[in-house]
Amino acid sequence: MNLLERTNEVRSQLKEDLSKVQNTFQSIEDFRLKYIGKKGLIPSLFRDFSALCATEKREIGKILNILKKDAEKAVQNIQDRFADSQSGEDEFDYTLPGVPFNRGHLHPVTQTMNRICDIFKEMGFGIEFGPEVETDFYNFQALNFPDNHPARDMQDTFFIEDDILLRTHTSPVQIRTMLKQKPPIRILAPGRVFRNEAINSRSYCVFHQVEGLYVDENVTFGELKVTIEVFAKKFFGKDVKLRFRPSYFPFTEPSAEVDISCIICGGKGCRLCKHTGWLEIMGCGMVHPNVLNTCGIDSEKYSGYAFGMGPDRITLLKYGINDIRLLFEGDIRFLRQF
Ligand code: PHE
Repeated sequence: MNLLERTNEVRSQLKEDLSKVQNTFQSIEDFRLKYIGKKGLIPSLFRDFSALCATEKREIGKILNILKKDAEKAVQNIQDRFADSQSGEDEFDYTLPGVPFNRGHLHPVTQTMNRICDIFKEMGFGIEFGPEVETDFYNFQALNFPDNHPARDMQDTFFIEDDILLRTHTSPVQIRTMLKQKPPIRILAPGRVFRNEAINSRSYCVFHQVEGLYVDENVTFGELKVTIEVFAKKFFGKDVKLRFRPSYFPFTEPSAEVDISCIICGGKGCRLCKHTGWLEIMGCGMVHPNVLNTCGIDSEKYSGYAFGMGPDRITLLKYGINDIRLLFEGDIRFLRQF
C-alpha cells in the first residue's frame, strides 16, 4: 500500500473511530493518542512522507495536512464536549426527583397556645400582648401585692434592677389593658413568663401562660365557670369534668384553682393524676376591687373575672411527656414528633 492509500485508509478509520468515542476522559485520550499522539498514525504518515521525492511530496502533502488538521479539530471538539458535560450543564437529568428539604412546623407549645386562643376568640375574646421585662408596678403593685407582702414570695422573681424585673406571670397585661381600655373588656394574653425556680422535670425558669380577663357590668362567678367549662370541653373533649377548688391570689377574690378529670384514666386514678383522678390546669377568680380601682375602673359599677393557665403543662398532659425541660431545649429529634 503506498502512502496515499494509507492516508485514505487512516482517514476512513478516523471517521469510524470518531463515531465510537465515548464521553469519557479515557476514551477521548485513547482516540487522541491513536491519531495525533507522537507515536500515533498521522505522525507516522508524516515520517514516511519525509522520505518521498519532491513530486510525490507535492501530490500527497496537501492531503496529509488536511487529514492532520481534521484530526486535531475532531480531538478539540470531543474534548470541549467532555469539558462542558463535566460542568454539569449538559448532562443534568431533569426527571430526577428533587432534593428533599425539611419542612418545619410550630412548636408543640405554640400549637397549644394557638388552639387555646382560637377557642376563646370564638367566644369574643381579643388578643393582647405585653412586655416580658416589666416594672414592679404592673407585675405586683397594681395587682394588689403590697410592698413586703408575703404573696410576693409565691413567685420567685428575676430582678433586673430594684424596680425592673422579668414578668413572673401574664397578669400585668390585665393592668395594661384596663389602663388603656374602658369596659367591656374581653381579652386573652398569651406569652412567656420567668421564675427563678430550681430547674427539674416539673419546673423551668421560663414557661408560658395564657391570661384571660373579662370586665363589664354584672359579671359573675357563674359566667367564669361556664366560660372555663366551654373551653375545657372544646379543648379536652366533651366528657371532661371540672372542679373548682378555693384558692388564693392577691388580685382575685374569691379565687379558685381549676382541675379537670384526668385525661388518661377519666377520674379512676392513675400515675399521671397521682391517683387523685384530677389534674390542675389553671388559676382564676373575680378581679379584686382594688385592682379595678387602681386602673380607674369603678368597682361599684363593674366587676370582672380573670384566669391564667399554663400551656406548657397542658402540652405535657396532652402528649404524656414527663419532663418539661424537653419543651425548652430545642432538640429537633424531640420536636419533630409533634
Ligand atoms: N397569675 C396567676 C399565676 O401566675 C394565675 C392567675 C391568673 C390566677 C388570673 C387568677 C387569675 O399563678
